[in-house]
Amino acid sequence: AIGHLEDRLGRPLTDLRISVTDRCNFRCSYCMPKEVFDKDYKYLPHSALLSFEEITRLARLFTAHGVHKIRLTGGEPLLRKNIEVLIGQLAQLRTADGAPLDLTLTTNGSLLARKAVALKAAGLQRVTVSLDGLDDTIFRRMNDVDFPVADVLMGIDAAHAAGLGPIKVNMVVKRGTNEQEILPMARHFRHTGVVLRFIEYMDVGATNGWRMDEVMPSAEVIALIAREFPLRPLEASAPGETAQRWAYADGAGEIGVISSVTQAFCHDCSRARLSTEGQLYTCLFASHGHDLRPLLRGDADDTQLLSAIGHIWQGRADRYSELRALRDPELTTDVGAARRVEMSYIGG
Ligand code: GTP
Ligand code: 5AD
Ligand code: SF4
Ligand code: SF4
Repeated sequence: AIGHLEDRLGRPLTDLRISVTDRCNFRCSYCMPKEVFDKDYKYLPHSALLSFEEITRLARLFTAHGVHKIRLTGGEPLLRKNIEVLIGQLAQLRTADGAPLDLTLTTNGSLLARKAVALKAAGLQRVTVSLDGLDDTIFRRMNDVDFPVADVLMGIDAAHAAGLGPIKVNMVVKRGTNEQEILPMARHFRHTGVVLRFIEYMDVGATNGWRMDEVMPSAEVIALIAREFPLRPLEASAPGETAQRWAYADGAGEIGVISSVTQAFCHDCSRARLSTEGQLYTCLFASHGHDLRPLLRGDADDTQLLSAIGHIWQGRADRYSELRALRDPELTTDVGAARRVEMSYIGG
């Protein structure tokens, strides 16, 4: 049963994204709008969370199935207590070929200045920081908890100084909210080695009130930047990559665009997602997962767990973004929103 898996569309399993908490100290309106994620919101109780030992055991089994890249997500992963202990355990794992894993984490950067050195020491290789603008007023409005942009920039500097690179910065572009930040962000990160990626605002979850008219297609982002800084396309660095890469023609570095709305990339999607409580999701837009926790906490041995994971992947036919685009060429309909799981729960 061990070896490289393929799903029903011939896609291998190479990436595992593990959500380590469903909590976050930001309230980005496109992810955890305040009106929904308020004082009364029921987060997962501590007993529901997978322990570090449970996560590491699963991660090891996924590597036996061909996973060579692990990303920790949330919510905000740095809010999980002693996260560096988990990173230390995951850093010991090896791919099926005996190589170290690509071990990384996506964070809002708010705690990075404090934690970068410990994360690096624990064995984390690199980080991706979410940052939706440089203008302090706009940034505070987007995180909706009045968090200053200067602190995130200090976090990025600390990560760089700690050797957690190459650093990526993710900017979700919402038309009418932060599109005026595209050029300042591009200018700011040129010549820094940071790879800035512009993300199309996605119809993920059920609470963000997504509308197509708030999506700025990546083609427009690229055209806007290319008017000031000529760009040339780069080859993908790995199959199934989310981003299309572009280089500044003058050698100032590279940027990327993640266009899951206007140019779906399901055809070679090799990502599985593990929720904080042990539900395995085979698509970001799935309405249900496969509960691995009863197996973990029952008396299933590794062979049984491996075969359960194998069956789930082999039964996979998800291609949500492609189907939505096919069904609705105008891309204006938000299909099935009521049933979709929240991104803060499943992990971006
Ligand atoms: P790298 O490995 O560093 O390139 O990161 P990544 O792009 O795989 O992950 P990251 O956490 O930086 O996510 C960037 C954006 O892509 C986020 O908005 C994610 O939600 C989105 N994303 C990641 N994987 C998928 C996917 O499989 N499907 C869709 N639709 N979006 C995804
Ligand atoms: N659309 C696009 N990207 C999103 N993210 C969170 N919610 C959305 C959304 N609705 C991004 C975060 C983070 C990454 C993991 O996902 O900003 O960078
Ligand atoms: Fe928190 Fe990231 Fe969601 Fe913003 S996008 S609310 S920082 S998990
Ligand atoms: Fe993969 Fe689902 Fe995203 Fe398509 S929509 S790329 S299948 S996670």
